[in-house]
Amino acid sequence: MHIPDIIIAIDGYSSTGKSSFAKVIANDFSFLYLDSGALYRGVTLFAIENGLISDDCTIDVPELEKALDSLDIHFGEGGTYIGDRCVEQDIRSLAVADKVSPIATVSQVRSYVDRKLREFGRKKRVVMDGRDIGTTVFPDAELKIFMTADTDVRAGRRAAEMKAKGMEADIEEVRKNLLERDYIDSHREISPLSKAADAIELDNTHMTMQDQMVWLKKIIAERFGC
Ligand code: DC
Repeated sequence: MHIPDIIIAIDGYSSTGKSSFAKVIANDFSFLYLDSGALYRGVTLFAIENGLISDDCTIDVPELEKALDSLDIHFGEGGTYIGDRCVEQDIRSLAVADKVSPIATVSQVRSYVDRKLREFGRKKRVVMDGRDIGTTVFPDAELKIFMTADTDVRAGRRAAEMKAKGMEADIEEVRKNLLERDYIDSHREISPLSKAADAIELDNTHMTMQDQMVWLKKIIAERFGC
């Protein structure tokens, strides 16, 4: 199947399997994969480590804004980097998950991430996942997918993923974190999580990765005649 030069934007709730799906698409179609959540998580890790966010999530916005000028977050071998330090494991911790949604409400942080994503996405043949890719970052993306799944299934998948990486994961805590993030992400003032009018919904509660790829290829064949 010849896949045209398009941008695929995948948005949806936390732990609906957006990044797993995007990675398989990127691999199968030889597309570049961009994980926008990793950039928000990178900024959050940086803020935690530099005392710019307190335990009760009060954010020192002026200092954070200043720091963003020289903050070098990028993707390299093995995932996300801050400067030459690989932070892929650290940004997946619950400590970061707990604070990332408040950090993602800060307009300066959103502009910083949007700028990076648009730079990376200039060339097309990109699949990007997040919360506002189809609505804000790439509103002209040729294909937009909005993912959902049952909450218990999402919490179970996320906890299993964390345990597989050797991290601690209390399923109730994971479930609470997912619901809190969904709420903050959907209710923030700037670029809240919402389904773009032209996005296609995918509920993958009862779907395997293979089912999802069959679903996607059928849509691409219908839409782009390939
Ligand atoms: O996809 P993720 O769970 O790694 O994302 C972490 C957080 O980053 C998510 O709870 C909200 C924020 N985010 C966002 O606001 N906009 C995006 N495009 C991607 C992530």
